[in-house]
Amino acid sequence: MAFVNSQATTYSDKVVRQFAIMTVVWGVVGMLVGVIIAAQLAWPELNLGISYLSFGRLRPLHTNAVIFAFGGCGLFATSYYVVQRTCHVRLFAEKLAAFTFWGWQIVILSAALSLPLGFTSGKEYAELEWPIDILITVIWVSYAIVFFGTVGTRKVKHIYVANWFFGAFILAVALLHLVNSAAIPVGAMKSYSAYAGVQDAMVQWWYGHNAVGFFLTAGFLGMMYYFIPKQAGRPVYSYRLSIVHFWALIFTYMWAGPHHLHFTALPDWTQSVGMVFSLILLAPSWGGMINGIMTLSGAWHKLRDDPILRFLIVSLSFYGMSTFEGPMMSIKTVNALSHFTDWTVGHVHSGALGWVGMVTMGSMYYLIPRLFGQKQMYSVKAIEVHFYTATIGIVLYIAALWIAGVMQGLMWRSINADGTLTYTFVESVKASFPFYVLRLVGGLLYLGGMVVMLWNTIKTATSGRAVSVNIPAVAAHA
Ligand code: HEM
Ligand code: HEM
Repeated sequence: MAFVNSQATTYSDKVVRQFAIMTVVWGVVGMLVGVIIAAQLAWPELNLGISYLSFGRLRPLHTNAVIFAFGGCGLFATSYYVVQRTCHVRLFAEKLAAFTFWGWQIVILSAALSLPLGFTSGKEYAELEWPIDILITVIWVSYAIVFFGTVGTRKVKHIYVANWFFGAFILAVALLHLVNSAAIPVGAMKSYSAYAGVQDAMVQWWYGHNAVGFFLTAGFLGMMYYFIPKQAGRPVYSYRLSIVHFWALIFTYMWAGPHHLHFTALPDWTQSVGMVFSLILLAPSWGGMINGIMTLSGAWHKLRDDPILRFLIVSLSFYGMSTFEGPMMSIKTVNALSHFTDWTVGHVHSGALGWVGMVTMGSMYYLIPRLFGQKQMYSVKAIEVHFYTATIGIVLYIAALWIAGVMQGLMWRSINADGTLTYTFVESVKASFPFYVLRLVGGLLYLGGMVVMLWNTIKTATSGRAVSVNIPAVAAHA
């Protein structure tokens, strides 16, 4: 790595540094809100009778903060980093890239203000009201111009597979956001959906599931395809499989949304289409997971003393687990038990904490020292500590909710000989209490690991300096 000042020959990493730092900061904030609402579910009086702190307002704050602030900043940082390294050029339209950073932070702050104040469109994962939606659109279009502009001006003929995933994520999210957020404004912070009834539900869950597929999956697969080979020092196991993985995944995801609407007014055949495509989705998901894990073949020993690689590989194990569980939950008879229960929330977090969280953390641990001219993070021991606290935290979280979820489902359907319900609803709530406390403990551990990461990041950034990295003169490989 050589450090020079000449703009033309160096990568534009300022925006990558900014997004990387904010990934860690928003991670702590979003997970802290997660811990608060987890505590409120065990002890509801923790909302202190203040409407701004009520569960209903903090929950979307949590989901928006972890998905769009933590996950979003991580995706911006890594896509901007990876696209330059694999195309051997600086970012296209750097001023626009800087705008995406500041604009995205304004969106996050607007969410942090408007959600506790009670402004919401009521659509899950798309709660923000129309003026913020318009700002998101402007930023996203700018992001697309920067990303595809960089790909378009590349010095390398080939477009590396990570960029395919990042590109699909950017395009699909633009489409999802535009279609699902279509609304008629009736005030400065109030609008009504452009769709009605069951169409509204279908559009919302077409959006919701593809937010999982493209925001929480495709973009992070872009990370996987760059950072696992880099950290392992090995090429991707099968490049051919990565291409099959790409097309199969993006085609299949688009049809699976109706599995969120089983046993509703949605036509039954639509629900079945959702179920069948969800089952098919197992194949590309596992193909991708296997491709990532097998990249380590011949280098398994590195897992012993490389905690960053451990983050990346364990993230794939959780990816495999949640993409096995998801198709199972999409089967109507299974969904009849799991829907409305904490099993769903457990599934969400095995994907969110295990896959999204850990692949982001691993990628950030790779990136941050390089962005500040350091060989490694300030404390490798602290990465170890983070890895173990996070892993134990996830296991506690999801195991507690599996038990709670199945128990709730069974209690609700249990019927006495005379046809009356065996349990009242409140009895199932009472029975869930110990599991809510256990989930809180898991969440606290996971948050604790993130706080350690923040400390390690601050130490690394302040003991290093912002550096400029040369673009290789010969366009060989990244
Ligand atoms: C310290 C870590 C975390 C804790 C303690 C936590 C806790 C919670 C709680 C208590 C809920 C509400 C569940 C309910 O309504 O019954 C929730 C929902 C949710 N969280 Fe987290 N969370 C954490 C991290 C994350 C992360 C990192 C992500 C994503 C990357 C995430 C994504 C979500 C999503 C998508 C939901 C909505 C689930 C649904 O509708 O079924 N969480 N979380
Ligand atoms: C093959 C892949 C997957 C399939 C087929 C799948 C399927 C499902 C199903 C059937 C549900 C329950 C729907 C309901 O009863 O309402 C669900 C919920 C959910 N899944 Fe997955 N899942 C997959 C992977 C993932 C991954 C990797 C993540 C996270 C990174 C994830 C995040 C979510 C979220 C956030 C919800 C809750 C939505 C809500 O009700 O708010 N899923 N998924």
